[in-house]
Amino acid sequence: MTDTTLPQPELRPDCPNFSSGPTAKFPGWSLDKLQTEVMGRSHRSALGKARLKYAIDLTREILGIPDDYLIGIVPASDTGAVELAMWNMLGARPVTVAAWESFGNVWIQDAVKQLKPANLTVLEADYGEIPDLTQIDKGDDVVFTWNGTTSGAKIPDTDWIAADREGVTINDATSAVFAQPMDWSKLDATTYSWQKVMGSEAGHGMLILSPRAIERIESYSPSWPLPKIFRVKKDGKLNRSIFEGATINTPSMLATEDYIASLEWAKSIGGLSELHARADRNAKIVHDWIEATPWMRNMVSDPAKWTNTGVCMVFQGDWYDGLSDDNKAAVPKNIAGMLDKMGIAYDFNGYRDAPPSLRIWCGSTVEEEDVRRLLPWIEWAFAQVKAELS
Ligand SMILES: Cc1ncc(COP(=O)(O)O)c(C=O)c1O
Repeated sequence: MTDTTLPQPELRPDCPNFSSGPTAKFPGWSLDKLQTEVMGRSHRSALGKARLKYAIDLTREILGIPDDYLIGIVPASDTGAVELAMWNMLGARPVTVAAWESFGNVWIQDAVKQLKPANLTVLEADYGEIPDLTQIDKGDDVVFTWNGTTSGAKIPDTDWIAADREGVTINDATSAVFAQPMDWSKLDATTYSWQKVMGSEAGHGMLILSPRAIERIESYSPSWPLPKIFRVKKDGKLNRSIFEGATINTPSMLATEDYIASLEWAKSIGGLSELHARADRNAKIVHDWIEATPWMRNMVSDPAKWTNTGVCMVFQGDWYDGLSDDNKAAVPKNIAGMLDKMGIAYDFNGYRDAPPSLRIWCGSTVEEEDVRRLLPWIEWAFAQVKAELS
C-alpha cells in the first residue's frame, strides 16, 4: 500500500481559518454582534470617546494590567505601537535589540539603520532558536519580541530581565498577549494589535506603558524627529488623554467595535485563564501530532520555547532531505495550496521569509475540534504531494 492510498478524511474543520493574523474570529462571531450606534459619529464625540475608553478598560480588566500602567490605542497596528515606543524612548541609554525571526529583525533594522543610537548591541538567533538573553546588561534598554510569530519560538520566562534594571524593556507581544501570561512587573512598554490572538479587525496598535516607561518619556526628548503619529507629549508631559480614548488621529470605530465584541466574548467564557487554556489545548494537539509524525518536527527544538499560538513545523526524513531546494519549498506550499482549494484550511503555509514550513494558528479563537480535524488532512495532502514530487 502506498501513501497515496491514504483515504481522504471524512470530517472537515467547521472553520477553515488557521492564519496567524488576521486570525479566526471568535466562535459565534457575526457582524450583528457589533454595536453600531457609534458608526458615522465622530471618534471625538462623547459616545466615540466612551467606546474607545471602554475598549481600553476591558483590555485592562481582561489582561489584568496594573492600575498604574497606561493603555493607549495608537496608529498603525503593532508596528506603529512598537515604533512609537522605540522612537520616544530609545537613545537615552545603551540599547540591546534581540531578535530570532522576521518581526524582531524589523526592530533591529529600525535601530541599526534608522535610529542609530550610541552603544547599540544586536542579539540574533536563527529561526527556531532564541539568543542567550542572560548576557543583556541590566543598564541597557531592551527591545524584544515575546513570541516570534514566524518561527514559533517564545521566551520561556522573564528571569533574564532584572527587577532592578536601569533600562526599559520594549516588548512586542502581539502574538502572545492574550495567550501567554505577561509578567507586567518586568515590562515597560508592551505592544500588540487586535487582529492577532483576539481575531479582531486590524488597524490599530495597543501601547501599554509602565510607570518607568512614563517616566522615561517625560524625562527624555530624543534627538531625532518624531512624526505626528508618534507624538505623545504635551507641554513636556505624557498626554494622558491619549490613554483615555482621545486617540492621536482618527481610528476605525468599526474595528474598535469588533475588538470590543471579542473582549466581551473573552469575558463571557471566563476571561484570561480560559483564553490561555484554549490556546494551550489547541497547541498541545498540534505539538503531540508533530512528535508522533516522523516526517515532521517543531521548528523550535526546545519544548520550553514552543509557542501556543502560531506553531511552526518543518519537514524531515530521507525523502524530504533528498529534494532540491525548490521542491523542499514546494512541499508546504503545495499542501497548503491543495487544502486551500478544497476549502479545508486557509493560510497555514509558513511565513514567506521563514524556512519552508507550515504554521498552524492555535490561538484562543480557534476551536479545538477544528485543529483536531485539520491534522489528518495535512497527512493526506502530504501523501499526495509526496507522490507528485517523487
Ligand atoms: C511579532 C510580530 N510583530 C509585529 C507584527 C506586525 O504587526 P502589525 O501588522 O499589526 O503591525 C506581527 C504581525 O504578524 C508580529 O507577529
